[in-house]
Amino acid sequence: MDQTRAPLFEGLIAHARRGAYPFHIPGHKAGRGMDPAFREWVGEKTLAIDLINIAPLDDLHAPRGIIRDAERLAAEAFGAENAFFSVQGTSTAIMAMVLAAVGPREKIVVPRNVHKSVLSAIVLAGAVPIFIYPEMDERFGIAHGVSAAAVNKALDEHPDAKAVLVVSPTYYGVAVDLPAIVEAAHRRDIPVLVDEAHGAHFAFHPKLPPSAMQSGADAAATSVHKLGGSLTQSSLLLHQGRRLTPERLRVTLSLLMTTSTSYLLLASLDTARRQLALLGRDKLEAAMERAEIVRRAVRTIPGLVALEADDVPPDAFGLDPTKLTVHVLGLGISGSDAEVWLREHAGIEVELSDLYNALFLFTLADDDDAVRRLTDALRRLSHAHRQNGAKATRPILLPEMPALALSPRDAFYAETERVPLDAAEDRIMAEFIMVYPPGIPVVMPGEILTRENIEYIKANVEEGLPVQGPEDATLKTVKVIKERTPLR
Ligand SMILES: Cc1ncc(COP(=O)(O)O)c(C=O)c1O
Repeated sequence: MDQTRAPLFEGLIAHARRGAYPFHIPGHKAGRGMDPAFREWVGEKTLAIDLINIAPLDDLHAPRGIIRDAERLAAEAFGAENAFFSVQGTSTAIMAMVLAAVGPREKIVVPRNVHKSVLSAIVLAGAVPIFIYPEMDERFGIAHGVSAAAVNKALDEHPDAKAVLVVSPTYYGVAVDLPAIVEAAHRRDIPVLVDEAHGAHFAFHPKLPPSAMQSGADAAATSVHKLGGSLTQSSLLLHQGRRLTPERLRVTLSLLMTTSTSYLLLASLDTARRQLALLGRDKLEAAMERAEIVRRAVRTIPGLVALEADDVPPDAFGLDPTKLTVHVLGLGISGSDAEVWLREHAGIEVELSDLYNALFLFTLADDDDAVRRLTDALRRLSHAHRQNGAKATRPILLPEMPALALSPRDAFYAETERVPLDAAEDRIMAEFIMVYPPGIPVVMPGEILTRENIEYIKANVEEGLPVQGPEDATLKTVKVIKERTPLR
């Protein structure tokens, strides 16, 4: 196929140039009816292609024209048999693949530290999660992926499981051993779904870990907007093989997707795919080199430690070198202190900070100036805190993986009451509590809240990290199940 083409983007431009007068939504009509300040900022050309699914522009819910052509090119570029565009991020793509694979009371093997969209899908489907626990990194205070051995064991113990879902790579860039996990699942003829939110670039450079499709997975949800260069909220659902059908995936995706699909997002997927296919290898080579320069510099900066390929567990596949996790505990500060210091003193925004680390991304976008700015800022961060050390020996706190007492769906719909956070110890939760980013629930509906997790939540709140989920955003109270009901 001709990867130099961008049929969806080209179709939109051709339509805008024809100049037909729109008696249809969006009501701003190519920006004419829009607030002038906003129009000036985003530009008339952008607004001229903020269009809707009129007949010449195809329909995401049943594509037959330019969207179908763009999806076929994406499938080829990402090494899939089928690609489906999502204008609701990877969250919706994940929910669609889970709903396509499991139904009410069917078992799905998932890591406990999954993004909330996986757990939302499990609630919606009424499926039963069989949780496997990730490898914990006590040095950096983060969770890695799951091992193939853990997946194998879960499948041995639950031979009636209908699917396996894994996250690869993790937010911190650790890729799991997908080929071995796929082999374990396919031996039992069940599909492997991959949350590949942080791996949109993997298919485009041989030095990166293999992508989900290259590893033989059945479906993958991929945030092109995160690391592939498209607009925020645009993602791909990729598919191959016979264990899931493309028809079923299209139906479940359509079930969850808005009917007012943004053509700006769709066109940005089309053009991001073109750029990745044509230039991805060179741009990713440069991104890896730049990240390596900063990683080497971090090794020489007092108080800082970078997550290295050698730090990932031996049964993981490897580390995405474009992700730079810097552990700052040696400076006696938290990751969020580092985030604030870098914002206020160096004009730098991090991707994520947690209790102990700050995460920096190198993508197709960076130049040598970005390398200099970050290296210089990290040196100054270290220098500014050289007298510190008070918190340097603080013990690493990790969230405890709670036990599931009730199916997440039953807990979500059960009779509930609100109690103070401290009084919720040993109670079954009726809502999610998560730190965002990374958006991984510390506790979810159906799980028992432990004292350790209450302390972990409080530590995050005290550090000013964004703890989300509960209806009471102050987290003074949480919603728990009124009575205990046995797991069905
Ligand atoms: C591991 C993981 N999965 C899924 C998602 C959801 O992706 P999106 O924001 O594109 O909906 C995220 C978002 O941060 C994530 O970190």
